[in-house]
Amino acid sequence: MRNFLSPLNTPIHQWSEKRVWIVGASSGIGLALAMSLLEAGAYVTLSARREAELLAFASKYPRATVVAFDCADRQIWPAALGSTLASMGHIDLVVLGAARYDPMNSWEVNVEHVEQSFELNVVSVYRALACLVPYFLERQSGGIAFIASISAYTGLPRALAYGATKAALNNLAETLYFELAPKGLNVYLINPGFVETPMTAKNDFKMPSLISPQRAAAHIVSGLERGKFEISFPAGFAGFLRLLSRLPYRFRFPLLHKMTGL
Ligand SMILES: NC(=O)c1ccc[n+]([C@@H]2O[C@H](COP(=O)([O-])OP(=O)(O)OC[C@H]3O[C@@H](n4cnc5c(N)ncnc54)[C@H](OP(=O)(O)O)[C@@H]3O)[C@@H](O)[C@H]2O)c1
Repeated sequence: MRNFLSPLNTPIHQWSEKRVWIVGASSGIGLALAMSLLEAGAYVTLSARREAELLAFASKYPRATVVAFDCADRQIWPAALGSTLASMGHIDLVVLGAARYDPMNSWEVNVEHVEQSFELNVVSVYRALACLVPYFLERQSGGIAFIASISAYTGLPRALAYGATKAALNNLAETLYFELAPKGLNVYLINPGFVETPMTAKNDFKMPSLISPQRAAAHIVSGLERGKFEISFPAGFAGFLRLLSRLPYRFRFPLLHKMTGL
């Protein structure tokens, strides 16, 4: 029985023999996380579209396998889950991190990019859940982790579509935790700040508190081990933005203008 001080998820004490499926593992945070978990002794199935990159990486680790697919394919998830189970036997944890980011201001709405962002960052996650939740419920154990973003906390310039998709994941993860934790499943909400990856390479502004993908992976692994529900980092910047998001709008908006210089 959990009390108010207990971790919200089951702490993970060792990774050896754990089976982890990372979706969005060909670069950036997903790739660094895969490396950390493989080095800690876990079995990892890596997924993304770029099969050659995944296979080249996996060839260095006997416990790594690859299931390459396009998450935006409407029909793909049952087959992708089947292939992952065929390669690892079972899944203890899935990390859903495939996403796209199209910087966009409100005066340059690109509806096609908005649709593609919601399709990949949000709708494909629901398609994944339609297969994964019944699987984990049947096993009566397992965990689902969403990689969202601290841009979910408050509307930010240039994040017109991206921020909204990540806010949707924050809400989704809360509902999922509420419904699945009593059934013995773990649900994690990962909210990174700025991480130096191909995704942020397109940003033309100075990113505050930018960290490496390896640092991001270390935060994620530590949060999973401690059984946290929300894993947000780096602490100072994430905490500041969280605090800002709790302020009344009359204070929040001027502070955001000052902070971003916009
Ligand atoms: N970098 C940051 O500052 C930051 C901050 C907050 C949150 N995040 C989140 O962290 C996650 C990882 O991002 P990242 O920064 O590490 O960027 P990244 O290096 O661009 O990684 C994105 C991953 O998603 C995969 N992906 C993209 N479209 C896909 C598709 N249609 N089907 C399957 N896989 C697909 C990519 O692989 P392929 O191209 O091979 O398919 C790649 O492995 C994302 O959810 C992102 O929103 C990043």
